[in-house]
Amino acid sequence: MKIAIGADHGGFDLKEKLKLHYPDLIDLGTFSHESCDYPDIAKAMSAKILSGEADLGILICGTGIGISIAANRYKGIRAAILYDDFVAEMAHQHNNANVIVFGGRTMSVDDVIRRIDIFLKTKYEGGRHDRRLAKLDL
Ligand code: RB5
Repeated sequence: MKIAIGADHGGFDLKEKLKLHYPDLIDLGTFSHESCDYPDIAKAMSAKILSGEADLGILICGTGIGISIAANRYKGIRAAILYDDFVAEMAHQHNNANVIVFGGRTMSVDDVIRRIDIFLKTKYEGGRHDRRLAKLDL
């Protein structure tokens, strides 16, 4: 599975820590602490997912809010903030999220790694959820 990661300056430190833990991540930037705009990172990630170049995206800004709003503007993107462990499971099982989102200023790296692992080991349930997901893109 190809997983891409992107962050604004508020998520840069967390992105770098995650790359140490998951060395195969495809890094879409940003590449320094210099201030940048989270919609630009969300746009790059959405293109990567919608083209099939990546199967899953990880996005990070300060809170996770701005970058998830931005990513969810793109038809076909289902971005979910994994704010606790139960949500990490449900975001895959029920929502089949293709982008998972974290807050670089609100979450610890240990919590984030645990939630990524929960998400990855959970399977999408399909069934009634297929119908609901189809309605998202009308
Ligand atoms: C940047 O300062 C900050 O606004 C951004 O990272 C994010 O938290 C927005 O939702």
